Amino acid sequence: MSLDHLVQKTKQQFTVKFNQAPRWLAAAPGRVNVIGEHTDYNDGFVLPMAIENCTLAAAAPASNGAMRLRLCSGEKPEMVEIPLNGKVARGEPAWANYVRGVIAGFQDLGIQLPALDIFIESDVPLGGGLSSSASLEVATATLLEVVTSRQLDPVQKALLCQKAEHEYAGMPCGIMDQFISVMGKAGHLLLLDCRSRQTELVPMNDPKLSFLIVNTNVKHELTGGGYARRREQCYEAARVLGVPMLRDATLAQLEAAKDRLDPVVYRRARHVIGEIERTTQAAREIKAGNWAVVGQLMYASHDSLRDDYEVSCPELDTVVELARNIGPSGGVIGCRMTGGGFGGCAVALVEAARVEQLTRQITQGYVKRTGIQPSCFVSRPANGARVIAS
Ligand code: GLA
Repeated sequence: MSLDHLVQKTKQQFTVKFNQAPRWLAAAPGRVNVIGEHTDYNDGFVLPMAIENCTLAAAAPASNGAMRLRLCSGEKPEMVEIPLNGKVARGEPAWANYVRGVIAGFQDLGIQLPALDIFIESDVPLGGGLSSSASLEVATATLLEVVTSRQLDPVQKALLCQKAEHEYAGMPCGIMDQFISVMGKAGHLLLLDCRSRQTELVPMNDPKLSFLIVNTNVKHELTGGGYARRREQCYEAARVLGVPMLRDATLAQLEAAKDRLDPVVYRRARHVIGEIERTTQAAREIKAGNWAVVGQLMYASHDSLRDDYEVSCPELDTVVELARNIGPSGGVIGCRMTGGGFGGCAVALVEAARVEQLTRQITQGYVKRTGIQPSCFVSRPANGARVIAS
């Protein structure tokens, strides 16, 4: 869906729900991570891009004067009430906790919120590993900035949204998703050093290349404990290696300590240390236009996530295998799972001229092997969060 179409749909639905037109509108994108998976909470590097798919948040002053927010969405039309006479707490329905957490972040900053009607609409596939939740948090924060005329520093804003996800949604995520949703720039990938939080924009606007995103349509569930467990395994590896974080360890150090490490923890650390190296290398190779090497790094990342980190799934492996078999002669440069894993999407770097044919080939192969219909789409690297109506 184009952004214009999404904006029109949001305005219409808002008006139907609240009997008034929205006054403020903000958008925040989802993301695909090109490489650097499960490195952010190890102080490593990530290389994501914002996608064209967005979450929109619309608001108008509430007409009845009560100190509360009313909230609903295109996906969840049931009206949620959030009282504002005190610190906002977690509650039901669970989806509203992303919004509650961001409101609480504004309250912590001493920013007073007026009574509001809020409506959320999104074309970021939910649970598809494309950061639908970060885009909801960042859209909400961007909306509240414009409503309260208080512009947050971009880093502070991303961290406020991450805190909302930790404390209100119960997902101990890293900083990648919120940072890229705030700071994405059209035509660029974002190389983010998750320790110093320094960013570098890496141009990615060669018209001959496209990112083909393949949603396995297998649900992605990160609150199930697999993510948190891996985080703990990484910290255990760092403890045994005697380094503050796995960012500080080398593969040589890891090999030397192999006997002292639980075999699973050893493999988790091998993924992270290797992936951090692959990510900075990929950024260099992209700048140099060495696409064949970039493709190899993407496949190596996938293999490591599948075998050492064990966050892939048969459906993601199938997409990557199909892409790999098509190979450079068929227009595929590289492919890997993207995001937290356990389902969700794969991202393939492909020749733009062959996108339609590749979509057909991958769809056919995937349906044949899994019986599931995938969803495929292309996105250019897009802009981060923005105000649409103030
Ligand atoms: C999820 C988290 C991110 C990151 C990725 C894995 O998307 O929200 O912080 O850890 O998984 O790279």
